[in-house]
Amino acid sequence: MKVAVVGAGLMGHGIALVWAMGGHTVRLTDTHAPTLERAPRLMETALATLAAHGENKGMEPGALAQRVTCQAGLAECVEGADLVIEAIIEQPDAKRALYAQLEALLPPGATLASNTSYLDVFPLMPAALLPRAMIAHWYTPPYLVDLVDLVPNEALEAGRLEAVRDALLAMDQKPVVMRRFIPGYIANRIQATVQNEVQWLIDNGYADARTVDEAVVHGIALRMPIVGVMAKADFTGLPLLQHTFRNRMYTPPEPFEASPSMDALIAEGATGVMSGRGYYDWGDDPARLFEERDRRLIALKKALREIGTMAGYAR
Ligand SMILES: NC(=O)c1ccc[n+]([C@@H]2O[C@H](COP(=O)([O-])OP(=O)(O)OC[C@H]3O[C@@H](n4cnc5c(N)ncnc54)[C@H](O)[C@@H]3O)[C@@H](O)[C@H]2O)c1
Repeated sequence: MKVAVVGAGLMGHGIALVWAMGGHTVRLTDTHAPTLERAPRLMETALATLAAHGENKGMEPGALAQRVTCQAGLAECVEGADLVIEAIIEQPDAKRALYAQLEALLPPGATLASNTSYLDVFPLMPAALLPRAMIAHWYTPPYLVDLVDLVPNEALEAGRLEAVRDALLAMDQKPVVMRRFIPGYIANRIQATVQNEVQWLIDNGYADARTVDEAVVHGIALRMPIVGVMAKADFTGLPLLQHTFRNRMYTPPEPFEASPSMDALIAEGATGVMSGRGYYDWGDDPARLFEERDRRLIALKKALREIGTMAGYAR
């Protein structure tokens, strides 16, 4: 398949790498020349990390240039493409302007897939694009997180979403199909709910950040890969959950606009791993910390592949 990726930033270069590792021919473009120039080096670094752990799907780092080419122009990038992936900045006006250009440039057989996180992009598109347009939303980094959310619009032609899903499955990604768009899809909405709850616990003095993470990692997170949320409900037994709902034993905190503990850290310049400090004191080279995180993620993925899951994704 010929894949065009429009936007070579944080997500675009990673998505391009996944399709290249899957054996596809990829063209990449970005309106910001330095970003486009930087993309091949970032892909090579990521591929080298994957290769070091045997997760490069048979693609040697030197082979990248044969599969991925960078194009300065949009027309050259999308020409002859079967799939055009839109991964540009999350701004409605920028996306609207790009879709207007694509109305004339998208090859007739090509499907347009937006990587938007929170925007309903379909109303931003010319009506003529809608029969060929869907959302395919990836997670960062795309070459380590397998989930891709697929969302159709009402006018999407039959078979297009299924073709993208099948191509993703063939690359060992984990596509999930939603019936219609909602900002944040499933995983990011759950993550946001968890973050809201955790900030509330911390800011109201129930536990500190480390304690919260211990409870998450050794409690929720250990079970989740095996039973998800709904399979866990079945294991718990539904009457207990029914009882919890009915008696309002749990009331979620109101969503809030600011977390005092987070505001204080940011004011001190403690913005997270990149600054050496956030809720934790990291005090180390961020690149080494990211590498260490990725190494552990890869090990966990390998273990999960072996263990299997009871949450509907058993291979
Ligand atoms: N960052 C994440 O974790 C994440 C995760 C999933 C989805 N997304 C979504 O992916 C999209 C891109 O996000 P990102 O984090 O990669 O942003 P980014 O800022 O790193 O990259 C966006 C790139 O788009 C380029 N661009 C802007 N207008 C363009 C145009 N008309 N044509 C070509 N390139 C153009 C910019 O120069 C920039 O390099 C957004 O819709 C975002 O919501 C982001």
